[in-house]
Amino acid sequence: MTPYGQGPDAERERAVEAALDTLDLAAKARLLAGQDMWSLPALGEIGLGSLVMSDGPIGVRGRRWTADDPSVALPSPTALAATWDPGLARRAGRLLAQEAHRKGVHVLLAPTVNLHRSPLGGRHFEAYSEDPYLTGEIGTGYVLGVQDGGVGVTVKHFVGNDAETERFTVDNRIGARALRELYLAPFEAIVAQARPWGVMAAYNAVDGVPMTEHDALVNGVLRGEWGFDGVVVSDWLAARSTTGAIRGGLDIAMPGPRTVYGEALLAAVRAGEVPEHLVDAAARRVLRLAARAGLLAGTPAAVSVAERPPGIDGEALAREIAARACVLVRNDGLLPLAADALPGGVAVIGAAARDARILGGGSAQVFPDHVVSPLDGLRAALPAGVPLGYALGADPGTELSAAGPGFALTAVARDAEGRELGAERMPDGQVQWLGELPEGVDYDRLHTVESAGTFTPRVSGAHRFGTRGTGGFRLTVAGRVLFDGRQQDEHDDPFEAFFGRPTERGTVELTAGEPVVVSLLHTPPKAVELPIQAVGFALLHGEPERDEEELLDEAVAVARAAHTAVVVVATTERVESEGFDRTDLRLPGRQDDLVARVAAVCPRTVVIVNSGAPVELPWREQVAAILLAWFPGQEAGAALADVLLGAVEPGGRLPTTWPARLADAPVTRVRPTGGVLPYDEGLFIGYRSWDRRSQEPASAQLAPPAPPAYAFGHGLGYTEWTYEELSVEPGDMEAGVLATVRVTVRNSGARAGREVVQLYLAPDGEAPAEGLEHPHPAHPADPERPVRRLAGFGSVTAPPGGRAEVLVPIPRRAAEAWDEAAAGWRLLPGTYTVTAAHSLADPRIAAPLRVG
Ligand code: BGC
Repeated sequence: MTPYGQGPDAERERAVEAALDTLDLAAKARLLAGQDMWSLPALGEIGLGSLVMSDGPIGVRGRRWTADDPSVALPSPTALAATWDPGLARRAGRLLAQEAHRKGVHVLLAPTVNLHRSPLGGRHFEAYSEDPYLTGEIGTGYVLGVQDGGVGVTVKHFVGNDAETERFTVDNRIGARALRELYLAPFEAIVAQARPWGVMAAYNAVDGVPMTEHDALVNGVLRGEWGFDGVVVSDWLAARSTTGAIRGGLDIAMPGPRTVYGEALLAAVRAGEVPEHLVDAAARRVLRLAARAGLLAGTPAAVSVAERPPGIDGEALAREIAARACVLVRNDGLLPLAADALPGGVAVIGAAARDARILGGGSAQVFPDHVVSPLDGLRAALPAGVPLGYALGADPGTELSAAGPGFALTAVARDAEGRELGAERMPDGQVQWLGELPEGVDYDRLHTVESAGTFTPRVSGAHRFGTRGTGGFRLTVAGRVLFDGRQQDEHDDPFEAFFGRPTERGTVELTAGEPVVVSLLHTPPKAVELPIQAVGFALLHGEPERDEEELLDEAVAVARAAHTAVVVVATTERVESEGFDRTDLRLPGRQDDLVARVAAVCPRTVVIVNSGAPVELPWREQVAAILLAWFPGQEAGAALADVLLGAVEPGGRLPTTWPARLADAPVTRVRPTGGVLPYDEGLFIGYRSWDRRSQEPASAQLAPPAPPAYAFGHGLGYTEWTYEELSVEPGDMEAGVLATVRVTVRNSGARAGREVVQLYLAPDGEAPAEGLEHPHPAHPADPERPVRRLAGFGSVTAPPGGRAEVLVPIPRRAAEAWDEAAAGWRLLPGTYTVTAAHSLADPRIAAPLRVG
């Protein structure tokens, strides 16, 4: 009955069927329900171990969220996509599989392949690109890598979770064509190319149906059309209806122990509301997953221990990806810096230069065992004789953040009599116990958690302290009680406590270098009051508030004395996180003023933008160089020093268009009305929209179209490339290949380098009207079709003067459109132009391609 042939897949299928036959209905129903926050129950009677899942995507957190169990923290998914290198994504996946094995995890809750529909999306940093093709290719590499290591994935969030506002309930109205050509496309590509073992159903609804109950998209499209044979797991707390979910094709309801499956599913089958064969089908898929992961006795795992990739150095890989992901969007020749020619030294400026923001907020957070800040990275890389000055310049944090450097805290759990049950080191004051509690602690006996230890200030002054979370709090600093009472946070999102609003509780005058005792005693609400078993709260801190003008003046003074100024600007955890969307794209605090003033006194100013997603850079024409570093992961500073000093070329290209101003972005509405969010722009997100706007005759517009600050695909290296030849061979259409394109390029600069050759496909048509930005009109048979699309890419390296050739297949899908009336793909015959380009805005060489 299954198409698994004779190999190990077939053997596993036989074992799965045998196991299924011996399970009764109650056991099957139990198997589909999380037993706790992260795992499924073991079933001893069939030799099935407990399957453990964990976030994802930039590291493997493990069951516990603690600094006592650190994880390698890779750069943000936006950074990985900026490498345009599926091979590197695969290596990242392999490292994550290694981490998963180390932590007893069988399935990684990643990758996130929702699209950058709007730059306001709170989890923008966690997704790859505005382009479905690039997203699908990077996602394919990542999934192949994780599964090479014998660990499963859940490609997420299927589908349409492109923003966070009202994420549990929002009903996204996405037209059939946009759904197919944009939002489903990465999932489709990954299913076809990487055979993922799992997919995660999103919180939101699409066209009125919650994604955990979406029979048409899950059973119809994902399984039926695409042949996906893995499991569908709910996003955490997303499943709300027993019959709706099982009929809609959801296999696993997470987290436990209270779910819509288990007992509830058993009762529904017994009451005749659900046919038992649906439970069998879901249980079969869960057993298949367990067998693949090596958890079903008597059948081999998909990847044996001997077949796993050889050991990977996580630190080195994190550094390599961070450097490769850096996108140099502007350079007047200042970079790379010549370390031996910096009279006056380097001024390093910015709060994030000292305390780098290495990852985005929410479920993607992990604890690395160390972080290299840009300041430390540069200090280590610059020759001893080069003076290095530092100034804070501007504080981006308008609100308090988790207790950072200088704190040494431990969380101690106690029972109602004050007896210690267990403890865990929590250096940053954030307790995030989801499901799994520290050794010796259980929810029934747990009464209080005290985050206590010392704080050694770096500067003197009135330090600010606060709390985040729901429940009782007693906050004491240096013997002073700053707060003793309850905090009730009203919110719909049960995870909000982890990224909710901070509350300031008071200030205490402290002296630099003199440690004081701090304690935050928390009485969590009883577990029955919460939908999940979790303890989440944080001790918050803010450095003494300084006069903003004084801070700016200090930075200007440091910059004036230096040869080169390196200013690091950043967003904060209150700007980019899971759980909410952004309201603007500005850099928080006075950071824009800071850059403008530093650049005014130091012509050699390089700005490092430390954000996971686009921000407005109003001073971008006033500085010598701009490097987008994303959230660079734990080796941030080391990688930045590599790039700044030229040990490594900045290899990144923009995976998403950077608008000059929010108002220019194609989609700025992420807030639903009456629970509904219409995707009115249809196919026109990202560069597809900019292209269309640049095609419209000026008279039809109120204002001429504003070009983006930086186009899709943009990114400079340290050398130059000449595109010499392009030839197009027809492809094997039956195999889904439209054409194979060969591009020859020559490194015409003075340094070795790497070039990402990008191919864009556009239908030919009538000559362009006078004054239009580029010559591609819409396809004559399909005027709704965006004019250009990324159709392939590949990268080359070459020494100075060296030639390199790259062979890139263009998928047939690039010349197809989703036909809503026929509910199928339609090839659009005609003549197209294939352009090999350095970026969407920098086409180099073109050739015609005849289709059909
Ligand atoms: C997120 C998922 C994540 C899950 C488990 C949810 O809130 O949307 O991406 O995997 O939590 O942490």
